[in-house]
Amino acid sequence: MTFNEVLRFVDEIVFDKSGKHLDSLQKAILRATWQGEKYSKVAQEYHCTKFHVGNVASNLWQLISKELNEKIHKSNFRAAMERYQISNFSNVFNLGGNNCLKGNINLCTENTPSPETKQKLPTTQTANENNTPLPKLDLRDAPDIKKTFYDRSTQLATLKTWILKHRCRLITVSGISGIGKSTIIRHLIPEIESNFDHIIWRTLRTSPPLNITLKNLIEIISNVTETDFPNNTDAQLSILIEKLRDIRCLIILDDVQQILSNRQLVGNYKSGYENYGNLFKIIGELPHNSCFILNSWEPPLEIFNFTDNDSPVRLFQLTGLIEKEAREILKNRGLLDEEKWQELINFYQSNPQWLKLIGETIKNLFGGSVTQYLSYQPLFLSDELTNILQQHFQRLSELEKQILCQLSKPAKSVSVPQLLEKSQLSPPELFQTLLSLERRGLIDKITEENQTLFILKPIFSHYIKSGSVGINRA
Ligand SMILES: Nc1ncnc2c1ncn2[C@@H]1O[C@H](COP(=O)(O)OP(=O)(O)O)[C@@H](O)[C@H]1O
Ligand SMILES: [Mg+2]
Repeated sequence: MTFNEVLRFVDEIVFDKSGKHLDSLQKAILRATWQGEKYSKVAQEYHCTKFHVGNVASNLWQLISKELNEKIHKSNFRAAMERYQISNFSNVFNLGGNNCLKGNINLCTENTPSPETKQKLPTTQTANENNTPLPKLDLRDAPDIKKTFYDRSTQLATLKTWILKHRCRLITVSGISGIGKSTIIRHLIPEIESNFDHIIWRTLRTSPPLNITLKNLIEIISNVTETDFPNNTDAQLSILIEKLRDIRCLIILDDVQQILSNRQLVGNYKSGYENYGNLFKIIGELPHNSCFILNSWEPPLEIFNFTDNDSPVRLFQLTGLIEKEAREILKNRGLLDEEKWQELINFYQSNPQWLKLIGETIKNLFGGSVTQYLSYQPLFLSDELTNILQQHFQRLSELEKQILCQLSKPAKSVSVPQLLEKSQLSPPELFQTLLSLERRGLIDKITEENQTLFILKPIFSHYIKSGSVGINRA
């Protein structure tokens, strides 16, 4: 009896039961079982978790068991097949009706589905059309998928590669408010969900303490309410990491900026939330099968400790939409004067939310004329936008505010020596401050004649000049 004969036999059974032939993962499981190999080897080859392979295998053994009226599992599969003398099995399915050979005995298979039921797939909520189990989803905190999605295919492709091919364990998606962090990650989920056993989306909007977040995640993953939950954070982290090894989870923590501090340099934690740093460090450092995505206005400090190119911890700085898509927003808002759109898009950094907001304002105040809107200097920022910019400014340290004011004075870029002279900060103070502002995405860097120059993003420059910022510009 050859393995190929066994494969044909099992394929017939599976087709009979589900209307589908064996897929490649199921065949790999059968082959590994036949050869006495471990599920972990299959998992490695198929870039999925042992847990996922175990699930697929378990469904397969159930199908075979039902058909053969005998409990079949990994450890008795080969022996059972050999007992069935399936070298003769080519006769089995020629018998017609619901009969098949069990060993040398004619066996009545009551469970064989009728031709009608064979047409149907087993459409439980836990399987897709490839008959692979779908992940458990907990997207209570996630935004809805909206009808219009402006193209982010390049960014989606990068994130997919990092997660599926490079097996990244911790990805921070950073970017200014409204740039589309939550939206892009929400759209990423359907594209990669079949690679995960569990997908959980949690927002840190209400700044939950770490132990609440950990308890919540552990309970969702294990599907039990933990009554005996340890008080000690290290013990809680160990439980979580064990779960993340057993089960391949995709965990999205949105609005991470809410646990990061105001009025300090970028990436520090609010008082009482420093232990989130341990979570991120452990998720990045220890081997496991899962992936965390952090959406944040700014990256937490820990992630800058991972600097290797092939590190499983990465930073993805999300910038604005490509021009074509940004124009589409303005077109959808019914704006006029296309030749002026580029100016508007540059000023609003191709930020989809900001473009939508200003599009509405221009429609309401100027009948859609972008030329008229741009003719009134300084540009009018609506209350909604002013509030958003104010929230970003409130997070800055005093030194950061001071440097931004320096950068807002001339409309051109400024070098480090010029900044040192104007600000009267010590070099280390200035360097730290510039790094911090860059990580927040508030300033840009350009190189001219071998010199690095810094430039403030136009909308922030405008905001400071407008005086709404309430800081000393002396
Ligand atoms: N690619 C996109 N296509 C369509 N709308 C988008 C896109 N990106 C962002 N938006 C819209 O812009 C607004 C802000 O997006 P969101 O993802 O919440 O930003 P962030 O999470 O970065 O603050 C939302 O109304 C969202 O629908
Ligand atoms: Mg968001």
